Amino acid sequence: MKVVELNKREVELVPIIWRKSYETGIEEIDKQHQEIFDRANSLIQINKNFGIKEGVEEAERVIDFLNEYIITHFSDEEQLQLKYDYPEYRNHKNSHNKFIQKIEEFNVDFKEGENTLTNLSKLNAFVLKWLIRHIGSEDNKLAQYIKDQQ
Ligand SMILES: [Fe+2]
Repeated sequence: MKVVELNKREVELVPIIWRKSYETGIEEIDKQHQEIFDRANSLIQINKNFGIKEGVEEAERVIDFLNEYIITHFSDEEQLQLKYDYPEYRNHKNSHNKFIQKIEEFNVDFKEGENTLTNLSKLNAFVLKWLIRHIGSEDNKLAQYIKDQQ
C-alpha cells in the first residue's frame, strides 16, 4: 500500500462539531448521530497522533466501525419508520442506501491503497456534511411525523 504523509497545507484538519440544533428530539437517533460525529472526527486526529503504519491500521478500524455503525443506525431509523407507517419510507431508505454505497466505495478504495491518510479529512467532511444535510431535511421530517402521531 502506498501511503503519503499528510501535507497540512493541503488538507483542512478541522472537526465539524455537533450542535444542539442537529437534534431531532428522538433520543436514540440523536445519540447515534453524535456517535457518528465522534468517530468521524477521530479520523482527522489520526494524522496527528499516529505514525504512518499505525495510522493506516487505525484508519481502517475507524472506517470499518463507521461502515457497520451507519448501517445499524439507518436500519434502526427504518424500523422506526415502519413502526409508524411512515409514508416517506421508500425515499428515505433510498437516501440511506446511496450513502452506504459511497462509504463502502471509500472503504474499498482505502484498503486497496488508492486512498491515503490525506483523504481521511475528506471522508470526515463527506460523512458529516451529508449527515447534517440529511438530519436537517429527512430526519427532521421523520421526527416531526412521529411527534404528530403521538
Ligand atoms: Fe435518516
